[in-house]
Amino acid sequence: MNGTASKSGAATLRPMRWWDVDGVMDLERDLFGDECWTIAMFWSELAEPDTRYYLVAEEGAEIVGYAGLCAYPEESFVQTIAVKRDRQGSGIGGRMLTVLIDEARRRDEPMVGLEVRADNLVAQRIYHRFGFEQVGVRKGYYQPSGTDAVLMVLNLKGVDPSLWAGHQDTVDDAGQPASHG
Ligand SMILES: CC(C)(COP(=O)(O)OP(=O)(O)OC[C@H]1O[C@@H](n2cnc3c(N)ncnc32)[C@H](O)[C@@H]1OP(=O)(O)O)[C@@H](O)C(=O)NCCC(=O)NCCS
Repeated sequence: MNGTASKSGAATLRPMRWWDVDGVMDLERDLFGDECWTIAMFWSELAEPDTRYYLVAEEGAEIVGYAGLCAYPEESFVQTIAVKRDRQGSGIGGRMLTVLIDEARRRDEPMVGLEVRADNLVAQRIYHRFGFEQVGVRKGYYQPSGTDAVLMVLNLKGVDPSLWAGHQDTVDDAGQPASHG
């Protein structure tokens, strides 16, 4: 997007800025409850512009969705994606996911990974529709509920996705926000 808003339907997509975090947190608390990120987590994500790409969906002055990508040289991840309850099912999530995937392609990423709650079938269906494949499960990843995370990968360059799943098992998550991408 490069700072230029893209518009189709009612919602406008644009990069997330620090002053959006309060509005984002209102949705975050409502949608993720006990497992929601903190303001500090969003700020620390926005403080890493080289490897992070966050956007919001806006209708008028109201934030109705947000999403973020973490992009390292060899792998990228959907860190989070969410749409306000009464706007779900209107295409905003799909549009935001498209922008994140386009950004991963622009950065020449070989794949986009994500973790999604095992019981979140709505989100898993969307990811399947976009071509993500399940590559593994992380037991008890979401706390405090202890819900499993399903690992999914969108292969952008023909790399064996199981390599990514193996790498994830060795990652030390201490201090990292549990992604709800
Ligand atoms: C997952 C989420 C981001 C998707 O965003 P969205 O704007 O609702 O998605 P879209 O409108 O682009 O459509 C997604 C599809 O799911 C369906 N859908 C969306 N919300 C739905 C709901 N609440 N119940 C049933 N179906 C739903 C749509 O009809 C559409 O189906 P299709 O692909 O067969 O046409 C959004 O539902 C959300 O914020 N959920 C709560 C937070 C969350 O789970 N985030 C993802 C964590 S991994």
